[in-house]
Amino acid sequence: MVLSVKFKRIIAAIFIAVCIAIGLGVGLGVGLTRNRGGSSDNTITNTSTPKNSSTTSIPKPRKLWVPKVNTTWDYKLDNPLNSVTAGVQVFDIDLFDNPQSIIDEIHLQNKSVICYFSAGSYENWRSDSKKFNGSDLGKSLSGWEGERWVNLSSPNVRNIMASRIKLAHEKSCDAIDPDNINGYENDNGLGLTQSDSVEFIKFLSKEAHSYNISLSLKNSAEIIEKVIQLVDFSVQEQCVEYGECQPYEKFIAANKAVLHVEYPKGGKSNQQNVNSTTLDHYCRSRYESGFSTIIKNLNLDSWIQRC
Ligand SMILES: *[C@@H]1O[C@H](CO)[C@@H](O)[C@H](O)[C@H]1NC(C)=O
Ligand SMILES: *[C@@H]1O[C@H](CO)[C@@H](O)[C@H](O)[C@H]1NC(C)=O
Ligand SMILES: *[C@@H]1O[C@H](CO)[C@@H](O)[C@H](O)[C@H]1NC(C)=O
Ligand SMILES: *[C@@H]1O[C@H](CO)[C@@H](O)[C@H](O)[C@H]1NC(C)=O
Ligand SMILES: *[C@@H]1O[C@H](CO)[C@@H](O)[C@H](O)[C@H]1NC(C)=O
Ligand SMILES: *[C@@H]1O[C@H](CO)[C@@H](O)[C@H](O)[C@H]1NC(C)=O
Ligand SMILES: *[C@@H]1O[C@H](CO)[C@@H](O)[C@H](O)[C@H]1NC(C)=O
Ligand SMILES: *[C@@H]1O[C@H](CO)[C@@H](O)[C@H](O)[C@H]1NC(C)=O
Repeated sequence: MVLSVKFKRIIAAIFIAVCIAIGLGVGLGVGLTRNRGGSSDNTITNTSTPKNSSTTSIPKPRKLWVPKVNTTWDYKLDNPLNSVTAGVQVFDIDLFDNPQSIIDEIHLQNKSVICYFSAGSYENWRSDSKKFNGSDLGKSLSGWEGERWVNLSSPNVRNIMASRIKLAHEKSCDAIDPDNINGYENDNGLGLTQSDSVEFIKFLSKEAHSYNISLSLKNSAEIIEKVIQLVDFSVQEQCVEYGECQPYEKFIAANKAVLHVEYPKGGKSNQQNVNSTTLDHYCRSRYESGFSTIIKNLNLDSWIQRC
């Protein structure tokens, strides 16, 4: 469903980088360009891989935070978040790309941070991508350049994901949103099954909860009943579009939030609101079931329309 978006993001990132380099000179570039497909980035290096823990502020022990049913949220992955929006309680943002300063600013405003990373795919532009073993990798994700399914049972893959969760802890993320854990419904080249995903979520749950970090289930309607006790909320994409919202009502029944996003404009990313007929259509599961529904552009930029 989200085919070609990543490709567009990469193109957009390159385009922006080129524009900045040409138009504005080198000075303004730092902090604006995205780290996709690119070389290392000071912000990430400094915040994500502290060389000496005695010089890093270790986060204080914190209680498990879980998003409440009906919470407001925003989902922004195209670039680092640059300001904390009023009227939004929870921000789901990229674990690697966002600097510590924005996470701290969100917390200063008594709001919460969900850190997104891909747990079920290899992304060739990430700072830790060299840790993957060739034998861990399956087929490419169709339409997502530089990305391949990974073996969810591989100890090496799990070590990489454990390190990413530790990074989420170091950056004081309140929750994680591990993506692409549903290889079983895709042509993955590794024979991944639903039970591989269930076992993997057990692993993610144990790791995240050991830091009091809460955990979402991304999409994956087929395995909700098997993992609902292991996860704290749902991050759901396009269930209205595909007519499959009902399984996610199990989360609401368990008093767990469903952070629900729809992309009614398809591939067209612009700043235009959808009309009230379209809005009401996509917001039904908010009105009827208490999902936390937002309308976004498919490239997950800053534009948002709320129900
Ligand atoms: C990032 O770390 C490098 C090396 O440790 C240092 O030279 C640089 O000043 C740091 N940058 C920022 C923005 O803190
Ligand atoms: C970290 O830095 C402190 C003070 O500079 C030093 O005493 C300590 O040995 C360093 N630890 C490591 C693991 O490098
Ligand atoms: C997790 O929360 C409990 C209390 O709810 C606390 O005792 C514990 O120290 C916390 N652990 C971490 C790693 O923050
Ligand atoms: C955040 O919560 C603390 C403690 O309840 C309160 O003192 C502070 O004013 C709040 N800050 C904001 C920005 O709401
Ligand atoms: C995935 O990893 C597990 C554990 O190392 C291994 O038993 C299995 O054969 C691997 N699957 C593939 C398709 O390589
Ligand atoms: C990488 O894969 C090879 C071949 O399957 C294996 O021998 C090796 O132990 C793996 N390395 C790691 C770090 O998992
Ligand atoms: C609202 O937008 C949709 C999708 O663009 C369109 O099909 C529909 O005709 C519009 N309805 C009204 C009342 O403008
Ligand atoms: C969530 O919002 C829906 C729709 O407004 C409402 O019916 C429901 O009672 C709310 N649930 C909670 C737990 O706040």
